[in-house]
Amino acid sequence: MDTQAISTGLMPLSCVGIREETPTIRTFRLRACSGPVSFVPGQALVLKVPMPGGPLWRSFTISGGSEGDLHLTIKAQAAGGATRWLHDNFREGDVIEARAPRGAFTLGLRSNEKLAFVSGGSGATPMMAMLRDLAESEPDADVAWFHAARDPSEMLFASELTELQRRMPRLSVAVTVTRPAPGWFGYHGRIRRGLLAAAVPDLGRREVFCCGPGGFMQEARLIHAAEGGVKTQFHTESFGGEAPVIPAAPEPVETGGPAHLLKVNGRDLQIRPVETVLQASLRQGVVIPCGCGEGMCGTCMVKLVSGDVDARPNGGLTADEAEQGYILACSSRAVSDVEIALE
Ligand code: FES
Repeated sequence: MDTQAISTGLMPLSCVGIREETPTIRTFRLRACSGPVSFVPGQALVLKVPMPGGPLWRSFTISGGSEGDLHLTIKAQAAGGATRWLHDNFREGDVIEARAPRGAFTLGLRSNEKLAFVSGGSGATPMMAMLRDLAESEPDADVAWFHAARDPSEMLFASELTELQRRMPRLSVAVTVTRPAPGWFGYHGRIRRGLLAAAVPDLGRREVFCCGPGGFMQEARLIHAAEGGVKTQFHTESFGGEAPVIPAAPEPVETGGPAHLLKVNGRDLQIRPVETVLQASLRQGVVIPCGCGEGMCGTCMVKLVSGDVDARPNGGLTADEAEQGYILACSSRAVSDVEIALE
């Protein structure tokens, strides 16, 4: 996890191995053609997936790394989507482009010794990256991991977790499945307060790192609060799926103030004070690639050519990129006429 300065450009990554984790989940082992790439466990890679109809940008949490390689553990989702394309077409020896690792969903956020990892489906990937790191740096860490899977065959990293539990005496792991198979004697059913509180009885005293579908994370947040958890000790991450829905900005009202000019690659658009650059562009038919929609993944990075914006990146921009004048379209609002360039 050391080495090379982060650049703003795209880096080619070669696939050097593929491992089947479950019938629908694979781990792709990627190696940067220019040499090892640094990342912090919990961060994500933005891949430029070469779909037949044009590239799609998608963020995937790095599930781990070894000997300079980056591992992406990806669940195949809907037909026609980027994850399905990767499963069906991306093979050992193929090369794909990506932006440098980024994201603030890391143990750097931690302010409490007692941790709870709460994950659903492929949301286990950032947890696994952080857990492997803790196993090396802090094997005595107090971690309670609650994971929800659809059925026992979709449980990720099962054998490695058993091994980690041997090395980490204060690591507990609880799994619930929504479709229990015959012979399953563990928890079953969707996440709910009674279930999560039974699996992690001191949840309210723990700092939570949560990753999974939106509804799952919302439920976990409510349960943590109901159990007395501190609001600022609940962190979420939502990468790894297909494109999110970027919410439209509210309709302009008297309080909105005057619109500004937004120039995108030479095309003149309008941007309302309440809108992000991303929302204004999409509303007027200009597509900017996007992932999380919350300033975390870096997929919507654009170059600010002129003008001023109220930029609120949420871990999705590296210091180098900000220094070089890049902004995140999903979390930047215009405070003057603005020109941006899509590269
Ligand atoms: S879409 Fe993720 S940072 Fe903008």
